[in-house]
Amino acid sequence: MSTAAVPPILLDPATIRARVERLLYDFLDDQEQGAPDLPELALFTGKLRAMLAAGGKRVRPVLCLVGWHSITDRTPPPAVWRVAASLELFHTFALIHDDIMDNSDTRRGQTTAHRALATQHAGRRDADSLGVNTAILLGNLAFGWSYELLHADDVTPAQNRRTRPLLNALRTEALVGQYLDLAAAGKPDADPHIAWRIIRYKTAKYTVERPLTLGATLASATDQQLNALSAYALPLGEAFQLRDDLLGIWGNPAETGKSTLDDLREGKHTVLYALALQRATIPQQRSLHRAFGQPHLTETDAEDIRSVLTASGARTTTEQMITDRREQALAALHTADFRPTGPIWLRHLAHTLTTRSGLSLTDTNEGTVGTGELPSRPDTPRAPTEKTSPGPGV
Ligand code: IPE
Ligand code: IPE
Ligand code: MG
Ligand code: MG
Repeated sequence: MSTAAVPPILLDPATIRARVERLLYDFLDDQEQGAPDLPELALFTGKLRAMLAAGGKRVRPVLCLVGWHSITDRTPPPAVWRVAASLELFHTFALIHDDIMDNSDTRRGQTTAHRALATQHAGRRDADSLGVNTAILLGNLAFGWSYELLHADDVTPAQNRRTRPLLNALRTEALVGQYLDLAAAGKPDADPHIAWRIIRYKTAKYTVERPLTLGATLASATDQQLNALSAYALPLGEAFQLRDDLLGIWGNPAETGKSTLDDLREGKHTVLYALALQRATIPQQRSLHRAFGQPHLTETDAEDIRSVLTASGARTTTEQMITDRREQALAALHTADFRPTGPIWLRHLAHTLTTRSGLSLTDTNEGTVGTGELPSRPDTPRAPTEKTSPGPGV
């Protein structure tokens, strides 16, 4: 493991994203080059490159690096970058399958994988199911490859032993969280208990706690530091999902890259909706029940539901819950000692993840991070040229 010290460091998420993307694109190139007898593989690698190029915040890789830098000023070794890239590839799998399960048309401002793959077979009667089945395989490849990425000479057995239990837990939690989400959909309930459980596993642990503690664990964090990071991560992860739920109803699709009808059509069981059911008058309840969960719900139906969510106070209360959880996350940072860089990043992320106001930390006037040299492989193809700048996906 490299122990070279870097100057007092601050985060540059753009550098983190670029380095993680480089690793992923190189990995996909290697997969193609390693299977010259399988030209069909290009369909899959191309689709994964396109999904990465379409946007995404890279929250999990950024948190993994923040976890490392919270504990040490040392330059992150290759294992940290590989775990960060692995998290993003796992996430790509999760999104591909999630869009099938949620019947979504758009992701990161682009046609979802299963729909795009169906159009490749336009004219065939079974085009739709072929699109879904191919996307299932695409997700499976991304899932498997997210672990294959970690089987590399620059990851030591000791580093693998440290991260494996956390990665195993992340996988189980995310997938069981997704199951809870599916099982509760279409069954609106004024009791938010299940909605909170869904948030905890589907998002708070998967998106914030595990990535952050993975980076910190690789840096040999103490139990006290890990506990403080978890106490920061869980309320922040809840707030992140509550914001996502609000954006899922009132967001600007040009910014979120997602439809504002999906959650309503799916009948997603959220804390927001549970609050509305608790507080709505009888006529308002009727309005809520009429179209919620209907696959053909229209924009007019959505407007009716939105007005009840607002009039019942559910929207305002959800905003307040986000603020409260952000405060709780920030308070947890005082419960352990961190390197000075860590809390600067963590405070900034508490803001950006709950407001979705962008993940750049360069506007803090507190400096930039030294994340080490970007590895370069100029002889290999880079990201797809059709769209290389991050698109929507706040
Ligand atoms: C979407 O994850 C699913 C949630 C847990 C809210 P992100 O919001 O991190 O999606 P991308 O990667 O930025 O597109
Ligand atoms: C996606 O959950 C969560 C994961 C990919 C693990 P959602 O269905 O709530 O998120 P969006 O709105 O499609 O991104
Ligand atoms: Mg879903
Ligand atoms: Mg979804």
